[in-house]
Amino acid sequence: MAPRRPLAEGRADVDGGAGSRGAARHRTVPDPAPGHQVALRVGSFQAVLRTDPSLFSYTHLDPGTAVLLRTAPAPPVDGDLLDLGCGWGPVAVTLAARHPDRIVWAVDADPRAIAITQENAQRLGLANVRATPPGEAAPARFAAIYSNPPVRVGKRTMRDLLIEWLPRLDAGACAYLVVKKNLGADGLARFLTDEGWPTGRLCSKRGYRVLCAEGHGEGTPPAPVPPPTRAMENPGPPLRPA
Ligand SMILES: C[S@@+](CC[C@H](N)C(=O)[O-])C[C@H]1O[C@@H](n2cnc3c(N)ncnc32)[C@H](O)[C@@H]1O
Repeated sequence: MAPRRPLAEGRADVDGGAGSRGAARHRTVPDPAPGHQVALRVGSFQAVLRTDPSLFSYTHLDPGTAVLLRTAPAPPVDGDLLDLGCGWGPVAVTLAARHPDRIVWAVDADPRAIAITQENAQRLGLANVRATPPGEAAPARFAAIYSNPPVRVGKRTMRDLLIEWLPRLDAGACAYLVVKKNLGADGLARFLTDEGWPTGRLCSKRGYRVLCAEGHGEGTPPAPVPPPTRAMENPGPPLRPA
C-alpha cells in the first residue's frame, strides 16, 4: 500500500451542495504516486487526486468547478450522468461518490485526461466511473450533465460542443454549466435558450454563473414558438433570465 503523505500541492475545500445527500463517507485509500496531485474536499467526500501539468488547473481545483460542485443539485431524473470535459476528474469523481447508484461518464477530448480520471476513480474504488473519449460514451440519454466547459477553445467551438451533447439530455434532465460571467455566461444562456434548451441561472458566485439548461428528451429541440401576438392571460412564472 502506498504511504499516506501530507498534501503535496493544491488543496480544495468545497462545502457539500444540494446534490451531496448521498455523498460517500471518507474512504481510506492510498494517495496517488508522487507527482502532481490535488486534495479535494466536497462536503463529506475527501480524496487526493492525481493531476498532470498538461491538464486544466492541475495545481488546484478551479474556482468555477468549486462553485459548480457546491451549487449544482442532484440529478433531477433517473439515469446515467455525464461530466463533459472531465480534465483530471474532480467533477466525475465527486458525482460518482455522491451517487454510487449512477454510472458517471467522464468524457474529454484529451486522452491524458481520460487516463488520469480513470486512474483516480479506480484508486478511490469508484467503479461507477467510465472515462472515455467523446465518441465512446455509450448511453443515448443522460439524466444530467455537469460541466465546466472548455471556454478556451473559442465561443463557436464551445457552443458547437454543447449543441452536440444537449440532445442527449432526457426529458426533465438538466445540464449544469459553470461559466465565468465575463467570459460570456449570459450570452451562452441566451444562445442555448434560442436553440431550444430553456436556460436559466442557478446562481452567481465569485464571478461565475451556474446555468441550468433543460432537456426535452427528443433528440432535437422543439420548433421555436413564435412570439405571442397579444398578451397571454396566464403566462405562468417566467424563467429567471440569465
Ligand atoms: C475548463 S476544463 C474543465 C476540466 C475539469 N472538468 C475541471 O473542472 O477541472 C474543460 C475540459 O474540456 C476538455 N475538452 C475540450 N474540448 C473538448 C471536446 N471537444 N470534447 C470533450 N472535452 C473537451 C478539455 O480537454 C478540458 O479538460
